[in-house]
Amino acid sequence: MTTGKPIKVAMLGCGTVGTEVARLLREQRHDLAARIGAPVELTGIAVRRPNKHRDAPQELLTTDSAALVESDVDVVVEVIGGIEPARGLLLSALRAGKSVVTANKALLAEHGPELYAAADASGADIYFEAAVAGAIPLLRPLRESLAGDRITRVMGIVNGTTNYILSAMSATGSGYGETLEEASRLGYAEADPTADVDGFDAASKAAILASLAFHTRVTASDVHREGIASVTAADIAAATVLNRTVKLLAICERVTGQDGAEAVSVRVHPAMIPDGHPLASVGGAFNAVFVEADAAGQLMFYGQGAGGAPTASAVLGDLVAVARNKVAGGRGPRESAYAELPVRPMGQASTRYHISLDVADRAGVLSQVAAVFAEHDVSIAAVRQEGRPTDASLVVITHAATDAALRSTVDKIAGLPVVREVVSVMRVEGEES
Ligand SMILES: NC(=O)c1ccc[n+]([C@@H]2O[C@H](COP(=O)([O-])OP(=O)(O)OC[C@H]3O[C@@H](n4cnc5c(N)ncnc54)[C@H](OP(=O)(O)O)[C@@H]3O)[C@@H](O)[C@H]2O)c1
Repeated sequence: MTTGKPIKVAMLGCGTVGTEVARLLREQRHDLAARIGAPVELTGIAVRRPNKHRDAPQELLTTDSAALVESDVDVVVEVIGGIEPARGLLLSALRAGKSVVTANKALLAEHGPELYAAADASGADIYFEAAVAGAIPLLRPLRESLAGDRITRVMGIVNGTTNYILSAMSATGSGYGETLEEASRLGYAEADPTADVDGFDAASKAAILASLAFHTRVTASDVHREGIASVTAADIAAATVLNRTVKLLAICERVTGQDGAEAVSVRVHPAMIPDGHPLASVGGAFNAVFVEADAAGQLMFYGQGAGGAPTASAVLGDLVAVARNKVAGGRGPRESAYAELPVRPMGQASTRYHISLDVADRAGVLSQVAAVFAEHDVSIAAVRQEGRPTDASLVVITHAATDAALRSTVDKIAGLPVVREVVSVMRVEGEES
């Protein structure tokens, strides 16, 4: 029985995601009404260029987003993207007690606390499952299912474009530039791929994941970010030889300092992971997130991280949750930032490293290189040296060392007369230190 008063929904944006949200709302209206206990009524869709939207219900289209938000609606679904006007529109919705469902990672990673505060002040809900890893149920598990556990690490492949490019480089042996061109041609990369390939998109998602996992406010500017433009075919080949795979990872860790105080380390960078790690086999444009918690142990979330319909699935799931709260008269979870852990600077982040060097093929090279590592307190776990006709390749894998110590080590090694070139320096994740 769906006797409840209709839940009135305004949608801001009708592009890749919005079009699919509108379609699912229409096609599944009977099931949605039964699941919620009240029908959902889409009362308006704000766009920039109505002429472009021939297939959308014309009577619902408007270019006046502000008026739509102010109209008599219960929920505002935001699928415009970017900071403004989305931020202003959502703040005005929340201040008026209207619940919000958004897919906007950039906005949440920069202005999450402001939005939460507005929601708290009026008692409205804010849900954003689609903002990280598209269709994959991930934020709700972190926010709700794991709320009784202590999460220690969240490590994921959260950007499909970069994962597609790295997977293709690994399969073909091609370089970064030509693989990016091919990805653009096939529609896997945007015309301007900067947000993806330079790691901005993944950094926003890492900030959201770390905030939820560690009950601490983490913004995009707290996240150390490196993209994939510097990953070479030689890096990938070096990883392959060692049965490892190169992935762009978003890593959120709970770390304990020497004084016993806890902090969080949040970073996005390419890294080698062992072929046997669950994230290594995540290929193409798929996303996956590996979570470690004290009581739950290891968990893996996998699926389509983007695309109109997959992302709309997450938006609809949030819409049902918000609508159910309205029908029941309750609220979803509020911001949980009580832990207030400090964010550790990247220089103190500790990982293992793979360093590949072109060196002179003569006696004593290894001992000179090893001495520099020892001098910087970076402990060597394994060394592989291969002679070639005129020079040699030397690969060093370290035990966990701080980023700062590793950087000084590499700078000094690059200056040794016996070292012709530092071919590749890459972090190694997903194995014991
Ligand atoms: N696409 C994905 O796979 C995906 C996955 C996860 C999350 N997301 C997130 O979902 C959101 C939407 O992404 P999308 O790919 O659907 O974007 P999109 O295809 O570019 O669509 C954006 C929509 O917003 C409308 N719009 C832009 N500026 C507006 C304004 N000032 N007022 C009213 N409407 C405005 C556009 O109108 P016109 O069409 O008239 O220009 C368009 O309909 C973003 O936050 C994105 O990060 C997307």
